This record gives sequence, structure tokens and C-alpha cells, in this order.
Amino acid sequence: MITRRSLLQVAAGGAAVGAFGLRPAYAELPKLAQKDTYKIGFAQTESNNPWRLQQTKSMQDEAAKRGWQLVYTDAASSAAKQVADVRSMIAQRVDVILLAPREERPLIPAVMEAKKAGIPLFLIDRNVDASLAKPGEDYVAFIGSDFVEEGRLCAEALTKAVNGEAKIIELVGTIGSSPANDRAKGFADYIKDHPGMQVIASQSGDFARDKGRQVFETLYQAHPEATALYSHNDEMTMGAIAAMEAAGKVPGKDLIIASIDGTKDAAQALMDGKVVVVVECNPNFGPASFDAVVRYGKGEHIEPNLVNKDRVFTKENVEAYLPEAY
Ligand code: AHR
Repeated sequence: MITRRSLLQVAAGGAAVGAFGLRPAYAELPKLAQKDTYKIGFAQTESNNPWRLQQTKSMQDEAAKRGWQLVYTDAASSAAKQVADVRSMIAQRVDVILLAPREERPLIPAVMEAKKAGIPLFLIDRNVDASLAKPGEDYVAFIGSDFVEEGRLCAEALTKAVNGEAKIIELVGTIGSSPANDRAKGFADYIKDHPGMQVIASQSGDFARDKGRQVFETLYQAHPEATALYSHNDEMTMGAIAAMEAAGKVPGKDLIIASIDGTKDAAQALMDGKVVVVVECNPNFGPASFDAVVRYGKGEHIEPNLVNKDRVFTKENVEAYLPEAY
């Protein structure tokens, strides 16, 4: 089994540094010169949903506002392509890499190779396996939401809405990604103290609307006794709502729904009473990431985890949010 310790031992011994592109354990993080403009690489995961499109737009808007060059890549839902995208950014000698890693483990080589090449890297929105790469040592910092807390907040709101009694279908995000792992954990940790709240079926819909629809349809046919849905993102939620309605069911009555993100469609579904809670996962990373780069260039200490503050939307407060929904 590959562990961080074994990788670092190999690297420190000078052999096979290549496999994971490791520097010796004692090597420092790459420095960044203070400049007026930077050439930033942004390695996006995929562009198949409104959240991702908004995240990319936020990066592009911020680069344009500051007059910085943005080298943008889209991994099209492939971790292997995303590793290749980061390698291409290293070859182009960008000043900094902002990486939104699709999955926790396959992106480790990209993180380590950027460090070895002397290019500071920030993880944006998703994390990598903390036993294999660490903020402040292998990459500068993680900037993003607390996904465990998002799962916990969904569980808390759902439990309240159903008076502690529900048979729940869980639509899980991309297998091996930090939001899928952490949102499942936050939810499970909360409901274990509420015996009436049971997850009766759980399967990945890969954070995608079509897949969410197909997976929900199958799970609901197998479990018609389900009374609630916990979905790891709004796109899968919208797919599931379509499947419920096609089956003649009423979302918000036959099944009580908790979701995560804050897309325009989900905000509207909240207004319409189809969804009971949407926990925000803010995709607007441009300002915070570019500010962190500026601070790093000035030699300031960067906190290893820069956590976004997310809101909880319900029918009561969603109207005010709608104009900024994406
Ligand atoms: O990493 C954040 C998650 O990824 C968002 O919740 C989801 O919509 C996106 O694909």
C-alpha cells in the first residue's frame, strides 16, 4: 500500500523520486516572487454543471479584473486528464497553480510534481488525501467549504422537517472525491443519534443531473417506502425531482428533500416547496484565491485551511438569494 511515509522515505533516499514527483521531505514549499501580475493556471475538474461553470466564471472575472493571465484547463471528468493538465501548466511555467482536484488520491502526483518543479499550488474547493499530501508542506493551502459541516447541516434540517422519522435515499457525489466522502460523513455522524432517520439506499450519481435521475429512478423503484432524499448536490437533486414527477410523485410531500450548492434551479425548487433545505456551497472562488496568491507573493503566512462561510437556504430566506443564484 502506498502511504505518505513510504513515498517520502523513497524520495529522501534519493531513489525513484520520479514515480510521484516527490521532493525530499525536508524540501520547503516553493516561493513566489512579488509581482504586479501573475500567470495563473486553473485546472478545472469538469464543466457539466452550473456550479462548475460559475466557479470558472469567477476565476475568469477575477483574472480580467486584475489584468492577470489565466491558463485554464477542463479535465472533462477525468482525473488522468487533470494530472496531464497540471503537467502542461508546469511545462508552461505558470507562476501558481490553482487545482480543483476531481478525486482525493489520483491527483497526488500532480500536487507533488508542482512542488518539485518549484511552482506553488493551492487546492481549490476539493481536497486530496491528507495522509499523502499536506497543506503548508506539499501545497500552500486548501481554500474551500467545510463539506462535513454541509452534510451535518443537511441532516439537521432534514431531521427537523420530518420530525426525526424518515427512510432516506442518499445520492452520493463522485466516488473518491472529498465532497462525496465528507458530505456522507457529516450526514451519517448526525443521524446516528437519531434512530428514526435511516438511510435505506445510497449510490453515486457522480454529481450529474442525468446520472442522478437514473440512479434515483432505480433506487426508488427498489425502495418505494422511501420518504426522504439526501442529495450531495443540486444537479442530482434536479434529476431526482424529474424522476419523482415522472413517477407521479410530489417532491416536497411524498419525499422530503435536502440538497447542497445553491443553483438557480434548486433555489426555485425551494421557493416552490419541492426542496426543504439547500445548504450553500459557494463556487465564487476568484477573489479569495487571487487574494491568497497576492499574500503568498508578499511572503505572508497563509493559513493551511481557508474555509468558506456557507449559508443555509430555506423557503423563508431563499427569495433574497435568488438574484445571485447561478
Ligand atoms: O466540489 C464541490 C462540488 O462539486 C459541488 O457541490 C458540485 O456541484 C460540484 O460538481
